[in-house]
Amino acid sequence: MEPTETTTVKVGELEFPPRKVWMKTYGCQMNYHDSERIMSHLSGLNFTKTEEKSDADLVIFNTCAVRDLANQKFYSHLGEMKKLKANADINPETGLKKNVIVAAGGCIAQTEGKELIGKYKQLDFAFGTDVVDNIGEMVYRAYAGEKKFAVTSWDRSDNYSIETKITHGSPMAFVNIIKGCDKFCSYCIVPFTRGREKSRRLEEVVKDVRRLVEISGVQEVMLLGQNVNSYGKDNGESLGQLIMELEAIQGLERLRYTTSHPYDVTDDLVEAHRNSKKLANHLHLPVQSGSNTVLQRMLREYTAEHYLDLIGKMRAANPQMTISSDIIAGFPNETEEEHEATLRLLDQAQFDFIYSYAFSARKGTKAARMNDVLSDDIRGRRLREIQDRQLKIQESIRQGMIGKTFRILVEEKGLSKGVTKWTGRTSCYRLVHFEPESLEQDYQWHWVDVEITSATALSTQGKVLRDLGKRP
Ligand code: SAM
Ligand code: SF4
Ligand code: F3S
Repeated sequence: MEPTETTTVKVGELEFPPRKVWMKTYGCQMNYHDSERIMSHLSGLNFTKTEEKSDADLVIFNTCAVRDLANQKFYSHLGEMKKLKANADINPETGLKKNVIVAAGGCIAQTEGKELIGKYKQLDFAFGTDVVDNIGEMVYRAYAGEKKFAVTSWDRSDNYSIETKITHGSPMAFVNIIKGCDKFCSYCIVPFTRGREKSRRLEEVVKDVRRLVEISGVQEVMLLGQNVNSYGKDNGESLGQLIMELEAIQGLERLRYTTSHPYDVTDDLVEAHRNSKKLANHLHLPVQSGSNTVLQRMLREYTAEHYLDLIGKMRAANPQMTISSDIIAGFPNETEEEHEATLRLLDQAQFDFIYSYAFSARKGTKAARMNDVLSDDIRGRRLREIQDRQLKIQESIRQGMIGKTFRILVEEKGLSKGVTKWTGRTSCYRLVHFEPESLEQDYQWHWVDVEITSATALSTQGKVLRDLGKRP
């Protein structure tokens, strides 16, 4: 039965009245997509989402373990839950305090679930990354009175088969195509929190996307995985092949994929960028460092030269393509020369933007066991130098956009210094803000042609040339 505001849903022995769930997601797009899956399962148990923590019957933290900062944020939010539970409203019918259930999922819960349960009184249950689709069963157990459990098992089956869940009405959807990571870069916790690589079959993904396009009105798809370039290796299939199959779906306008590892970029993927009309003009290809000796210690399996050659091939295949990257500043024992090599690579690569982070030691990884001599100050200074250099590059790249026309898919409306502006993304993944032609005009999920009028390193403004409506 479809739950409504007032009906109670009966599942097994239990009745589920309408309840509210508040969810906090940390980390990468994969976690955001997992949260979407969680929400879609919970709606079957009569839960609707609330933005107010104090209204919640169920609180879920979908955690990230990639850097210490992400961990600290979660622990501090979990600390606040003690108060929330203690101050929960009194139910007028029972005279009892509302029983707020608190759960932690995601990457911290995968590796530390059992310890978390033991350590934090306010936490009712924990669940790992491979059991997201069993959330209904876990919530059922919690409401059946089971206390303090952690489910962190891995799915041992050979095939990875799911159906994409979407809970929003937007024309953009995340579609998981591969899970896990086998790369074991020396600094990275992800292979420990997400397990081994497993791909969905190409035929299943194509069917899934066709359903999203034809039934749910999806127009833009982001193919997801920690290492999407390894897609299909276990089944004799490839990302390039998948892209060309998806290309044929009528009504699908744009395709993106993330995240890529340079080692696994194959010629057929470069060809897909040459031949596909739907593949976006953007590639996020994390390089991490410009120094070959650091890349070696990171176990990245490529050199700076190989990387630059690769992005050269990509740009030759599609001259419109913008490239973005991830950089880690201050890898253990990085020398000043090694750091300089990264600054040089930024000049050579001309990235459209980068995500940059100071190295953060993650327990259990090889890099955390290195006898590191760098101080936080050095790491901080190098990170600032990387960011300053990139901002200069970015500023000059963005200046080159002025006067050109881009087609954007409009995502949201906001207020900037008292002025109403709409924001959308270009195919090359740049955000563009523009003022509406009239305040009543609703551009939500419209395709709009904009001419860029001004640009800084971080923001691009445009004016509307043509509103194409909800279908380009
Ligand atoms: N799979 C992607 C790849 O191969 O580059 C990215 C995975 S990771 C979730 C996202 C980014 O976090 C990485 O590209 C890296 O720059 C950064 N990262 C991962 N571990 C880190 C660590 N221990 N310290 C600082 N940054 C880290
Ligand atoms: Fe982490 Fe490396 Fe895997 Fe990316 S490829 S998720 S950085 S281990
Ligand atoms: Fe974080 Fe896990 Fe993603 S560690 S970055 S949420 S895969």
